[in-house]
Amino acid sequence: MSSIIEMFLIKIKYLIRLTIYNGYLINRNMKLSLVIPTYNEKGNVQKLIEKIQEEFKENKIDGEIIIVDDNSPDGTGRILENLKKKTKNLIVVHREGKLGLSSAVLEGWKMGSGEIFGVMDADLSHPVEKIHELYNPIKNGDADFTIGSRYVKDGKIENWNFKRRVMSKTATYFSRPFTNVRDPMSGFFMIRKDCVNFKDLNSKGFKLLLEIILKSKYKHLKEIPITFTDRTLGKSKAGKSEIIFYLENLCGYKKYVRRGVKEFFKFSLVGLIGAVINLGVLYLLTEYVGIYYLFSAIVAFVIAMTHNFFLNKVWTFGEEMKSSVCKKYIKFSVISIFALIVNLIFLYFFTEIIGIYYLISQVLAIGISLMINFFGNKFLTFKK
Ligand code: GDD
Ligand code: MN
Repeated sequence: MSSIIEMFLIKIKYLIRLTIYNGYLINRNMKLSLVIPTYNEKGNVQKLIEKIQEEFKENKIDGEIIIVDDNSPDGTGRILENLKKKTKNLIVVHREGKLGLSSAVLEGWKMGSGEIFGVMDADLSHPVEKIHELYNPIKNGDADFTIGSRYVKDGKIENWNFKRRVMSKTATYFSRPFTNVRDPMSGFFMIRKDCVNFKDLNSKGFKLLLEIILKSKYKHLKEIPITFTDRTLGKSKAGKSEIIFYLENLCGYKKYVRRGVKEFFKFSLVGLIGAVINLGVLYLLTEYVGIYYLFSAIVAFVIAMTHNFFLNKVWTFGEEMKSSVCKKYIKFSVISIFALIVNLIFLYFFTEIIGIYYLISQVLAIGISLMINFFGNKFLTFKK
């Protein structure tokens, strides 16, 4: 009897190993729903769809293409209807008018039956041959979010004029307080469907990716370098209203500000209050108590530093008031004094050697010593 059970168990183990080996368990059904929003793309859609089909076939991607057309006046919709007859994995969604890029993507995903949701532009700006590089890591469980990125090593932009480069870079810098993703303005990305929190997403404007980065639950995000090539046919649809929507969205992202950025602002503010305290004490002790001003300055420095220490401990870095005060106070003082010395050295260097006006030199020198103070204390005194 027991040998029958043993045989049975061995057989089950073998079957489990076989399914894992063949990828059925790890890679169970990872279909891709790739959305492509279109508005006046009649010269691009057919070529794009053909290229995507080839990419799907070559890399054995189980994928569907969902095109969301906003009643393009150039007749893109009609071309799509014809293509649909010949293509079984093509879904076409027609909307009544130009309702915006982000909302088109979300609407397309609603139609998707895949476990992985993706998006790319219709104007052949995004390299179709990179689809599998975004898809495979998610399929294999190495990532749950992949972004085709122009701003990581080996990423590039081709044929963009100076204005577009500056606009894109500026928009990207504006997103830095919220995310360390290098290219959160990309329009080419994939994510596991169950990571997306659809309810919270704001569908106004062009910048859906940043919304998703901030509002989704994912563990492994990968940026894959791509070369973005400017369209050769048709015109870009990004206009002034897109900039306004973007700025509007940014204003609503207050609660998503990264911890390090918040800490830096609080730390700077504490430093500013400390400087006012320093000057106040110096004035009071010198004028009213009659202490020699250089001694007053030392006392003022110690008082301001002590204020900075406690406020940073409790407010900036969120620590308990009483935890290891002595040890941390000594570290904080050493870093403050070191930063002060560096400040003086740079003040001297900028003024005497480079010849900058001394007040401007001091602004630069304060900037440098602030960095030393902040990073020194964040990573040495108040490290988590
Ligand atoms: N359905 C629909 N509705 N599609 C739209 C709309 C719209 O209102 N507006 C634009 N599209 C489509 C275009 O047809 C194209 O396929 C894609 O969205 C991107 O639009 P472009 O007009 O090519 O915009 P772009 O080149 O300025 O913007 C691209 O670069 C940005 C990064 O710099 C896009 O990739 C953006 O997604 C990306 O953020
Ligand atoms: Mn484009």
